[in-house]
Amino acid sequence: MRHLDEIAAPGTPERALLDRIDPARLPAHVAIIMDGNGRWARARKLPRVEGHRAGIRAVRETIETIARLEIPVVTLYAFSTENWKRPRYEVLTLMALLKEYMRKELDTFVTNNLRFRPIGRLHELEASVRRELARGVEATSGCTGTVVQIALNYSGRQEITDMVREAVRLARAGELEPGQVDEPWIGDHLGTAGLPDPDLLIRTSGEERISNFLLWQLAYSEIYFTPVLWPDFGTRQLLEAIVDYQQRERRFGGLPEMTEEEENLFLSAGDVRAGT
Ligand code: FPP
Repeated sequence: MRHLDEIAAPGTPERALLDRIDPARLPAHVAIIMDGNGRWARARKLPRVEGHRAGIRAVRETIETIARLEIPVVTLYAFSTENWKRPRYEVLTLMALLKEYMRKELDTFVTNNLRFRPIGRLHELEASVRRELARGVEATSGCTGTVVQIALNYSGRQEITDMVREAVRLARAGELEPGQVDEPWIGDHLGTAGLPDPDLLIRTSGEERISNFLLWQLAYSEIYFTPVLWPDFGTRQLLEAIVDYQQRERRFGGLPEMTEEEENLFLSAGDVRAGT
């Protein structure tokens, strides 16, 4: 984590939150479902595109703070496979905004040592979008700081489908035995290969669903829902989510250590049951 003053100025609410965060227990990967751009715009009687524009400001601020916290990975859900069902005008606008964002932010990515990594069925995107993405990947390939994954034309079920297809293809070619397919193999054949699973998933706008995002990878993630609409999300809301995350006890299916007293109680209860 960089020096506190670089993340939040002294005396601000953000700094008070930062002071409550334990730098040794930061999430290694934060995933975000950015939701509520449309509602934000509607509340201001603005066209939906203005909501997405304001959403880009939130993307910029959130990535910057994540980088300053030195969190290794952030994944943003920018366009789902279901989003193609939106009016054509809106799809085109989102793609245009993405290209604009890539062009404008590339220098900042490099200066801040951020590695850009798009995931999803990228080959189905329009050529001009793919070109912009490829430029981003290429320009940041030497960066060693936070990995910024942008999920585009992404859905968790499709990602798993593609992994299964690859397994079948390899098996048919005689290059894969059933016994080789285990959890690490599967993880290595998803878009997120090589990165830790998200410790924390944030979804904005009050919706409380996973919506086909990182289905395999979210198995043990802590989930934080906030009513804040995505364009209003920023450093303060991110720090609030991390404070909340650090207050939770993560067990990964196990249990915390028992005290001696608890253990005795447990064992005597067992004796009683065994004797009946
Ligand atoms: C959800 O709001 C948001 C999206 C579908 C797109 C998110 C895209 C951006 C923030 C801009 C581009 C992204 C990057 C990374 C440059 P919604 O439209 O579903 O809102 P609503 O549910 O209120 O209608």
